[in-house]
Amino acid sequence: MARLTPLAALPEPPPRPGSGHLQDWARAPLPLLEEGARRARDGGGSLFRLRLGLPAVLGFSPEWNRRVLTDLGTFRSAGTFPRLVPFIAGGIVLTDAPGHRARRGVLNPAFGRSELEALRERVRLARPPVPTGEFDALEWADRAVLRMLNAAYFSGEFPEDLLHAFLAPLRRPFPSPALPRPRLFARVRAELEWLALRRRAAGSGDDLLGVLAPLPGGLEEVRISLAAAHDTTTHALAWTMWHLARHPQWHTREGHPAALKETLRLYPPGWMGSRRLGAELEWDGTHLPRGTLVLYSPYVSARDPERWEAPGEFRPQRWQKPPPAWTYLPFGGGERICLGMHLAHLIILEALAALPPLAPVGDDPVPWAGVTLGPVGPVRVRPAGESAP
Ligand code: HEM
Repeated sequence: MARLTPLAALPEPPPRPGSGHLQDWARAPLPLLEEGARRARDGGGSLFRLRLGLPAVLGFSPEWNRRVLTDLGTFRSAGTFPRLVPFIAGGIVLTDAPGHRARRGVLNPAFGRSELEALRERVRLARPPVPTGEFDALEWADRAVLRMLNAAYFSGEFPEDLLHAFLAPLRRPFPSPALPRPRLFARVRAELEWLALRRRAAGSGDDLLGVLAPLPGGLEEVRISLAAAHDTTTHALAWTMWHLARHPQWHTREGHPAALKETLRLYPPGWMGSRRLGAELEWDGTHLPRGTLVLYSPYVSARDPERWEAPGEFRPQRWQKPPPAWTYLPFGGGERICLGMHLAHLIILEALAALPPLAPVGDDPVPWAGVTLGPVGPVRVRPAGESAP
């Protein structure tokens, strides 16, 4: 590897004296990533470095995305960002190869497209009523997703206020999502054990808890997948509602799938994914040491002007053709592709189907990238038939 350039020679967004990129990463990561990508492109590359307290690189080419997401031996999940967030630090999220494949093999059937059909009616019935006047799409999406997840996982039996209290810290700014909450987690665990016991005693339970609870570590997977499910799905739904209010011609059952795809391209709730290098790597003439924090970004890759026409515009019609391979990754890819991808689609499309034509109120929401990428609320909309006050 003698002639390779070191990681430190890669382009980078402007660092701050003393803190490198940590401060901007915590406050406003999207402009930081956009600037890094711009500088990488200006230098003819697609990889840039970040100083986040340890050596880090973010790549956004299809080749990079494919390698990071499919080479599970080299690109490890242990020691990555989810490790910092107790809600998702464990279970399948931090299981590495070779155990990961077997574990997914056990979990996948519960979340398969056809298996979820059995839950569709229950999920649909859990939708909250749509407000009549002007309302906050983010708040409505939050309640709708909470109830629809409760229906899918627990047939609606999990106490709603406890579920809400459990998930709320995840959408606050750091350090809130990273704080240990032993008492809250113990209450959730006790409720899960109680509901699982009742299903066992009754010899029934065709909801997700009923399927997952008997698996080894099943209750932990329930807790972790719920945490992975809620804000991602809520934010995707709220953004899509906003786009449908702005572009009402897409607010039809036939238009919803393309509108959702396009929304997830522009505002992927999982805006960044992380791995650690389990072995040193040579990439495009650069030497990346073992232990490097390796990032891919569904946000940056799906807005790359070299791969997408008019990347900043909402154009669902672009989905008449498949996207360039490995550039569109709102659910990740490879063996670690989102476990709940079909459940998220089911919930979001059923929620959208309940909504009347909408009109936007006010300006476009401002994006905010915390654990997930959401709009800063409120996201104000009103039924289109009603005149503005
Ligand atoms: C629109 C909604 C959602 C989005 C955008 C989303 C996004 C993602 C992404 C990008 C990943 C890959 C992370 C990585 O490998 O770096 C992922 C993984 C995961 N997601 Fe989702 N997700 C959504 C909904 C859900 C739901 C409803 C569940 C419930 C089961 C869920 C559970 C998981 C789990 C458990 C993983 C880890 C899979 C593994 O590592 O094998 N997600 N998700």
